Amino acid sequence: PPNLQMVEEDLGLERVNCRAKGASSGFKVAILGAAGGIGQPLAMLMKMNPLVSLLHLYDVVNAPGVTADISHMDTSAVVRGFLGQQQLEDALIGMDLVIIPAGVPRKPGMTRDDLFNINAGIVKTLCEAIAKCCPKAIVNIISNPVNSTVPIAAEVFKKAGVFDPKRVLGVTMLDVVRANTFVAEIMGLDPREVDVPVVGGHAGVTILPLLSQVKPLCSFTQKEIDYLTDRIQNGGTEVVEAKAGAGSATLSMAYAAVKFADACLRALRGDAAVVHCAYVASAVTELPFFASKVRLGRNGVEEIYPLGPLNDYERAGLEKAKKELAGSIQKGVSFVKK
Ligand code: NAI
Repeated sequence: PPNLQMVEEDLGLERVNCRAKGASSGFKVAILGAAGGIGQPLAMLMKMNPLVSLLHLYDVVNAPGVTADISHMDTSAVVRGFLGQQQLEDALIGMDLVIIPAGVPRKPGMTRDDLFNINAGIVKTLCEAIAKCCPKAIVNIISNPVNSTVPIAAEVFKKAGVFDPKRVLGVTMLDVVRANTFVAEIMGLDPREVDVPVVGGHAGVTILPLLSQVKPLCSFTQKEIDYLTDRIQNGGTEVVEAKAGAGSATLSMAYAAVKFADACLRALRGDAAVVHCAYVASAVTELPFFASKVRLGRNGVEEIYPLGPLNDYERAGLEKAKKELAGSIQKGVSFVKK
């Protein structure tokens, strides 16, 4: 196949490269795992984001194909592809935001923790390169188990002496997106108007929707609360089972990832009041990591909000969530320390 970068230069299309190199009026974003089920639609949606001036697509397979395809979209972001470990550092140099959906997804019958053995090593390797090439970048971690991969990232950055807890964020936006959708469905509302805080983590009982704090104010029966809590906690499994071996959520996840990445970029630009749930280093509970509402700003996480008043049902859920989270966090930390 022709080397597109060379052809561009041969044809004198240096301006594209200048725009890519300069890229002054926008943000530089890398997606690691860009050829995957999440990576491809995520890359497409980020190419459509006017805040992005340069989009780096990295994967260990098929990155040139996805890059060629997406680069034909007539939106302003310049797209560059990077294939394999030897191009990882080039993919990362100068990036403002790095999004990581690299790793294997679940098959029916698997928990997110079953992915640990493969994905922990992938996230560790990628974060070592981020620590070296763009230690100031905001990092959005999608790879599961998020409850453990975020502590892994933090440990890697600590080892390299570059850990900034404001800049490492586990993406739990899909839980919020699902919660908004399911609540809107049973209340007959437009999902765009619904805001459900989902705290804790991103797996089973650690996904804790705070239905007492839904906006607009909704009052649910106990039956509705049981139904909603169960469906939100098991939304991922619902998709895994429906796909019957062909993977887990990819399209709704790409949508959620872009919603979150766009919020991070707007905050980097200086927009005020950018508030979303994310799984971050936190002092909201006694655990070192926890998902709750955070305010994003020019440096990443500027403020972490307390959980607010919980009812008895939510307090019981919180205890269960914390118990499981503690183990997942420890597992991630030990993986890097061992
Ligand atoms: P996929 O298997 O379709 O794609 C993963 C991609 O990662 C592949 O293209 C693969 O080549 C690439 N990859 C593997 N090793 C790599 C490495 N060392 N460096 C760079 N790229 C590498 O999987 P899918 O469906 O895209 O899911 C990706 C991850 O996202 C899974 O761990 C999944 O569990 C997780 N996920 C997280 C969600 C969340 O809410 N945070 C929701 C849904 C999935």
